[in-house]
Amino acid sequence: GIVASSEVEQSYIMIKPDGVQRGLVGEIISRFEKKGFLLKGLKLFRCPKDLAQVCFIRIYYLPFIFSQEHYKDLKDKPFFPTLIDYITSGPVVCMVSTSFVILSCKAWEGAGVVASARKLIGATNPLQAEPGTIRGDLAVQTGRSAPTFMNVVHGSDSPDNGKREIVTLLFAALWFKEGELCQWESVQTPWLV
Ligand code: TYD
Repeated sequence: GIVASSEVEQSYIMIKPDGVQRGLVGEIISRFEKKGFLLKGLKLFRCPKDLAQVCFIRIYYLPFIFSQEHYKDLKDKPFFPTLIDYITSGPVVCMVSTSFVILSCKAWEGAGVVASARKLIGATNPLQAEPGTIRGDLAVQTGRSAPTFMNVVHGSDSPDNGKREIVTLLFAALWFKEGELCQWESVQTPWLV
């Protein structure tokens, strides 16, 4: 059956500097569009490397570095410094995608936009990513200092991380500021309810 749900899952998707440098922005956005995800936010952004960003809350000022916060789970990995060099080496394209329909077909879908976008993106190592996926089709490099993968795109790995990467109300946002996301709905209404 079809289950009505007003809970729309969101994923933070980012075209990394190699995707921008190689002119793949349109190609990558196109894949998410064609899949049917709804684009809710989009911008070109140069992530600062050293500058401690001041994240504004009325009373507290919380300094942090974007890129390091984004990859904080990987802080102890040997590839962390080169990963930060890579992700701050040029502009990235920040995107927020939500599931397509407000009435989600849970019995058919099984997984929402977060898991689905990860499937479109493919495996972390571009050499192992399946053909048909973004990384499988468009990436091959393992970076100048292997094993740092230059894999053209990021997608949130869980709905919770999706929220953290998009908008955390108390501590402002990691990649987007409040008001930068666009509230709109697809004009395509579900034909079976
Ligand atoms: P991870 O979250 O494990 O992968 P994904 O991007 O598929 O969610 O790692 C984040 C990024 O860290 C990954 O896109 C590229 C980099 N990375 C490496 O450079 N080498 C590695 O061995 C791993 C695991 C990740």
